[in-house]
Amino acid sequence: MNLYNKYLFPHLLDLVMKRKSMMKNRSQVAGRAFGVVLEIGFGSGLNLPFYKKIEKLYALEPSEEILNLARKRAKKFLFPIEYLPVGAENIPLANNTIDSVISSWNLCTIPDPDKAMNEVFRVLKPGGKFFFIEHGRSSQNFPAKLQNIINPVWKRLAGGCHLNRDITDLVVKAGFKIEEINKYPEKYSPLNFIYKGVAIKK
Ligand SMILES: C[S@@+](CC[C@H](N)C(=O)[O-])C[C@H]1O[C@@H](n2cnc3c(N)ncnc32)[C@H](O)[C@@H]1O
Repeated sequence: MNLYNKYLFPHLLDLVMKRKSMMKNRSQVAGRAFGVVLEIGFGSGLNLPFYKKIEKLYALEPSEEILNLARKRAKKFLFPIEYLPVGAENIPLANNTIDSVISSWNLCTIPDPDKAMNEVFRVLKPGGKFFFIEHGRSSQNFPAKLQNIINPVWKRLAGGCHLNRDITDLVVKAGFKIEEINKYPEKYSPLNFIYKGVAIKK
């Protein structure tokens, strides 16, 4: 691992991911988690302040450097946290054991998002919910075409982030039923197309 990834990138990510508009979305997504919670792509732990009535949090994040920032941030929170330093494609939890899964801005980056979503489905209890805020393919023609054109370069510059994944498709293909979905382009940034929603494992 190079010095940039080890020392600079985790702090840069933390800075970029705590913009005001993002924090508002975090409260609307993580704030709805209940019971035993799994957060995939935990990052630097920016959803922590929004967990209200949870029993336990499994914090899954494959980057040890990013997880170190999260560990520092987590010190002041009282609910139990167990760290899972692995990718979401192989979640080390038993079937049907989790009440809520949270994901904020991860499905763009996870190398195998289909496998990760199958794992999320597997570990959730029947009736368990997946709360998410992601960005992906625009539902408007012109921005979607632009996303496809820019994506190969973007992926390289933005640490493997894809602009054009269809998030609804990924969630539904894994077996979920979508209960709520809100799709919109981010203000001043139409290529950053937001998917915010709730899906249930029936
Ligand atoms: C854009 S960041 C979002 C971080 C965090 N979810 C947030 O809201 O601040 C994407 C995160 O996905 C993580 N990630 C990369 N590959 C992953 C994988 N295979 N499974 C789970 N998370 C992964 C990255 O390490 C990074 O923390």
